[in-house]
Amino acid sequence: MRMIKWQNGTVITPDQTKLPLQEVTIEIQTVEQMAEAIKTLRIRGAPLLGAAAGFGIAIAAYNSKAKTPTQLIDELEAAGILIKHQRPTAVNLFWGVDRVLNKAKSINGTIEELKAAVILEAQLIADEDTAQNHAIGKNGSVLIADGDTILTHCNAGELATVEYGTALGVIRAAWAEGKKIKVIADETRPLLQGARLTAYELKRDGIPITLITDNMAAHVMSKGLVNKVIVGADRIVQDAIFNKIGTYGVAVLAHEHNIPFYVAAPKSTFDLTCRAVDVTIEERDPSEVTHIGCQQTAPNDIDIYNPAFDATPLKYVSAIICETQIYYPKDYPTFRKTKL
Ligand code: MRU
Repeated sequence: MRMIKWQNGTVITPDQTKLPLQEVTIEIQTVEQMAEAIKTLRIRGAPLLGAAAGFGIAIAAYNSKAKTPTQLIDELEAAGILIKHQRPTAVNLFWGVDRVLNKAKSINGTIEELKAAVILEAQLIADEDTAQNHAIGKNGSVLIADGDTILTHCNAGELATVEYGTALGVIRAAWAEGKKIKVIADETRPLLQGARLTAYELKRDGIPITLITDNMAAHVMSKGLVNKVIVGADRIVQDAIFNKIGTYGVAVLAHEHNIPFYVAAPKSTFDLTCRAVDVTIEERDPSEVTHIGCQQTAPNDIDIYNPAFDATPLKYVSAIICETQIYYPKDYPTFRKTKL
């Protein structure tokens, strides 16, 4: 199912903050509404952020009253700055904006031709993401054996992409091949993407799912209840993968218990120009830690730290599954020289 659609200047997508209790669709018609949806995680997940970024620029083009191509490019650039400003860690957001902006700048034509090219490029990003996720699923399913129980963290599923998912795409492909697998989902505090989104998606698709709280992962691994871990990524750099806070801990636990730890992500998530120290980790509102939903769970007036992502060093990553191939640890030293 398509998670994001373009319909005559309107972007239609589920409001992920309402799931799983309400299946509500939002209609985004301005760049400001797109920025708000990204900031508040109505739209979330690295590949979906890439597509949303492209559509954000497309909305700016669609609504523009610019009189000259230069004026239009200036407006698109301003829209790009606003969109990029919403979240700093998932590189797909920046990649999506830049890809559509670069397309606009490459067109030597009328305003109408420029607008049409921008909208087409945004739609292309969405179409390509769908195809890439299916390819990731097919590539990654060779790593999954019949009878495996796979632990995942956060939501790298259909909801985090345009369609099918990355980590959950691998799980979906293995399931479609008839492998009798089971999934254990970490609930993923503070915003519960595992409980709210991964459990919702897998239940809907009839894939066996067991939900645990984050602090149970060590126990289930020590009991031999997990064969593999698969997660998505928000940014893959020369020496680490960035993903939802808690991923690093899961990777260290998997290493300790000799469990393969796999990362599934499209190449739009690779940012091989930088190292982990160069990446800004988003810090979100303290209320996400002091509250669960509307319920306050901590005293007032205490210090809160709420990083949304962490960096898992590549030494803990058994393989990175992308749309063209699987990278194994022997391939990581060449990342720096890789032209993607
Ligand atoms: O804060 P979120 O919900 O956008 O974080 C999402 C994740 O960390 C996902 O695991 C990642 O984006 C990969 S999605 C295919």
